[in-house]
Amino acid sequence: MRSIYCGQLNASHLDQEVTLCGWVHRRRDHGGVIFVDLRDHHGLVQVVFDPDTPEIFSTAERIRNEYVLRVKGRVRNRPEGTINPDLPTGEVEVLGLGLTVLNPADTPPFQLDDEDIHDETRLRYRYIDLRRPEMQEKLRLRARIIRTLRAFLDERDFVDVETPILTRSTPEGARDYLVPSRTHAGAFFALPQSPQLFKQLLMMGGIDRYYQVARCFRDEDLRADRQPEFTQLDVETSFMDEDAIMSLMETMIRELFAKVLDVALPDPFSRLSYAEAMERFGTDRPDLRIPLELVDLGDVMQNVEFKVFAGPANDPHGRVAALRVPGGAVISRKDIDDYTSYVGKYGARGLAYIKVNDVAAGRDGLQSPILKFLPDDVVAAIVARTGVEDGDLVFFGADRASVVNESLGALRVKLGHDRGMVKGDWEPLWVVDFPMFEWDEKTNRWMALHHPFTSPNVDDPALLGENPGTSLSRAYDMVLNGTELGGGSIRIHQTELQQAVFKLLGIGDEEARDKFGFLLDALNYGCPPHGGIAFGLDRLVMLMTGASSIREIMAFPKTQTAACPLTQAPSVVAAGQLIELGIHLRKPPEVDS
Ligand code: AMO
Ligand code: AMP
Repeated sequence: MRSIYCGQLNASHLDQEVTLCGWVHRRRDHGGVIFVDLRDHHGLVQVVFDPDTPEIFSTAERIRNEYVLRVKGRVRNRPEGTINPDLPTGEVEVLGLGLTVLNPADTPPFQLDDEDIHDETRLRYRYIDLRRPEMQEKLRLRARIIRTLRAFLDERDFVDVETPILTRSTPEGARDYLVPSRTHAGAFFALPQSPQLFKQLLMMGGIDRYYQVARCFRDEDLRADRQPEFTQLDVETSFMDEDAIMSLMETMIRELFAKVLDVALPDPFSRLSYAEAMERFGTDRPDLRIPLELVDLGDVMQNVEFKVFAGPANDPHGRVAALRVPGGAVISRKDIDDYTSYVGKYGARGLAYIKVNDVAAGRDGLQSPILKFLPDDVVAAIVARTGVEDGDLVFFGADRASVVNESLGALRVKLGHDRGMVKGDWEPLWVVDFPMFEWDEKTNRWMALHHPFTSPNVDDPALLGENPGTSLSRAYDMVLNGTELGGGSIRIHQTELQQAVFKLLGIGDEEARDKFGFLLDALNYGCPPHGGIAFGLDRLVMLMTGASSIREIMAFPKTQTAACPLTQAPSVVAAGQLIELGIHLRKPPEVDS
C-alpha cells in the first residue's frame, strides 16, 4: 500500500512521487491550506493539502487526529523559514495529490504528546499509547537487544530449548501463580518462577549449553523494576566453572552494549564480595557511579553515653555507620528533615549529622545536636575515619544492621542524584562470595540466599553444618548502575551435598522427596557439574533505553495491583467452569452488571 515510511523521507527524495500510510498526528488549518503531520512506525512527516484540488481538500477538511490515511504526493522542499531542525524529516514536506481515509477514529482519550497521562489510562488504551514514537523506539530496541543476545549464544553452540509453563512450584522464593487441573480434580499446576529445575535437568540430559528467552511468573509486591510476569534470558552450561561462566557472560553484555549502544563497558568488570558491598555501600547491588561510602564506627561508639549509638554498637546484629557528604555543610535544616523522613521509610528512627565548618578547630569547628554526647576521642575518631574536610557533612545511622544498610544505602543513592554526584554512564560489576544461608527472624530458620540448588564453596557436607552462618556459596550477581541485572551460580551436582543443604534449610527427607524427588533421582544417574545464570531482560532493556520503569519497555504490562486495565484480567469466571474444575469459592464473586 505504501512506497516509503513517513519517517524516512528526506531531501534525497525531492520531487519523487510517494505513497504514505499512517495516522494523523495533528491537523492544522492555516487559512486555506491544511497541514497534516502523518505518523507511522518510523516517525512524522508534514503533508500539505491546498485548495487547488477541491475534492481532496474537502476530504482533508474532515480528517481528525488518529484517522488512518493513505496519501499520494510529491516530496518538495519546505519554504525558507519553515524548516524544522528537530524533526528528521524537517527539511521536506509532501504536497498531497491523493487522499484516502482508510479508517476514521473516535476522539482519542489523550493526545500522544501529552506529558502527564495517568498510567492506568495509558494501559487501558495501550494500542494508542504504543503509537507514540518513543514507545515504538523502545520496543524496536528491545527486539534488537534480544536478537543480539540470541546471536551471541547461537554462535557459541548454545541450544534454545523451551521448558514447560504448566509445571510444579519452583523455589525462587516468591508466591506461585496456580492453575487448577480439570483432569486431576483438586490438584494445581504452578506457573514457573523461573526454568531453574528444567535447565538443570537439561544439563543432566546432556544438552551441554542451554539458553531460553523465558517467561517467568512471580506473585510478589510490584515495584518499578518488578512485574508479576517478566522475561529472563536464562542460561545454563555443563563443565564450566564460575570464572568461565562470568567471563563468557560479561563478554556477551560487553558485545551487546558495543553493538546496540556503541558503548565500551570496562574489561573486565570489577568484582566485589558481598561482605565488602554491604560494608561500603549497604547493599548487594551498589550503584558505583556514586562516589559516597559508608564507614563503620561500631567499635568507636561502644562506650559513649549516647544510647542511640551505644546500643547498636554493642549488639552483634547492630551497626553504627557514617556517610560523609563532601560539600554537604550547605544542606539546609529543612533538607536534613526531608532526608530524615526519607530514611524513615526504611525503618531508621533518626538521622544524626555533624556539619564540618573547620576541621583544624577540632570540636569547635563542628556543628551538631549530638556533639555534646560524644567525648573528644570519639569526635577525633569520626574525623579521622571519615576523612572529612571543611564544608562537609556526615550523616549517621545506628540500628539493626539491616536497617542501617537499607536506609544509608538508599540515602547514598538519593544524595548522589540530588547533589549531582553521579559519575559516568555505566558501572557494571559482579558481586561474589555470597553467604550460603541467611537467618530468617520471622520463621527462625536458615533460608537459602539464592535458591536451594546453589552450591556451597565446600564439597564436604560435614563442613557445611559446622557454621551455616559463615558458609559462602558459589553464586554471582551482575549489577549495573544499582540494578541487579542477573544472578546465577554453580549448582550442587552431588546427592549427599544436596541432601545436606535441604536438611539445613529445614526441608525434611519426605518433603524433599515429595517436592524435588525427580531432581534427587536425576542427580544419581550421572549428573555433570553445571552452573548458569539468568538475566532480567526487562531490566536490561529498561537500563539500555533509559526508561524509568520496566512497564515502559513491555508492550502489555500489568498495573501496581497486578491487573491488566486493557483486558480487565484477572476476571471472574462462569460458575460452570468452576464446577468443572471442582472449585467452590468461599465467597461468591461480585459480578459486574
Ligand atoms: P533470580 O530470582 O535472581 O534468579 O532472577 C534472575 C533475574 O531476573 C530478574 N527478575 C525480575 N525482573 C522483573 N520482575 C521481577 N518480578 C523479577 N524477578 C527477578 C532480575 C534477576 O536478577 N533461576 C535463577 C537464576 C539462576 O540461578 O540461574 C533466578 O531466577 O534481574
Ligand atoms: P534524639 O536523642 O532522639 O533527639 O536524637 C538525637 C539525634 O540523633 C537526632 O538528630 C536524631 O535524628 C538522631 N537519631 C536518633 N535515632 C537515630 C538512629 N537510630 N540512627 C541515627 N540517628 C539517630
